[in-house]
Amino acid sequence: MKEHWYLTELLNMSKLQIIIAPDNRLLKISKPVSEINKKIRVLLDDMLETMYESNGIGLAAPQVGILNRMIVMDCSDKNNKREALKFINPEILEMSQNKSEFEEGCLSLPTQFAKVERPETIFLQYEDETGKKNKKKFSGIEAICLQHEIDHLNGKLFVDHISKLKRNRIIQKLKKYKKQINKT
Ligand code: NI
Repeated sequence: MKEHWYLTELLNMSKLQIIIAPDNRLLKISKPVSEINKKIRVLLDDMLETMYESNGIGLAAPQVGILNRMIVMDCSDKNNKREALKFINPEILEMSQNKSEFEEGCLSLPTQFAKVERPETIFLQYEDETGKKNKKKFSGIEAICLQHEIDHLNGKLFVDHISKLKRNRIIQKLKKYKKQINKT
């Protein structure tokens, strides 16, 4: 009996599948989460697990095929304790004039990186997993990551911030990458 329970638990812990670009599902606009319930909380935990297993620092729900406005993030130092953050219905209320450039990657664009310029600081409104509304200022890598993930909720990828030439090069490489993966 206990063995059976253990197996079920294992099955429930299965990792979500990350969608790789180019894929039309990554270009859709996600809908707000209307009710924050158990299902949403389980999903956020599954997203976190998927993100950690893939060594990412952020993941947005549309990347796993769920068109709801949800993000998970952990920008803590790898040697330090985990700091899992969950954001439901995030909305940027203000952003700084100051911008900073950072080399970004994305779990949906594996092995591809490009420098992207974004506002340095943002003031964010969001709901947590209990449904409580929060407002908080973010800067540095967290501000960059949040803007990148909120882009996903709006059907936008980091390559949409760079030149068409660079973007096309990256998309071509990803098409090849997907072909390789499908072969194996
Ligand atoms: Ni991404």
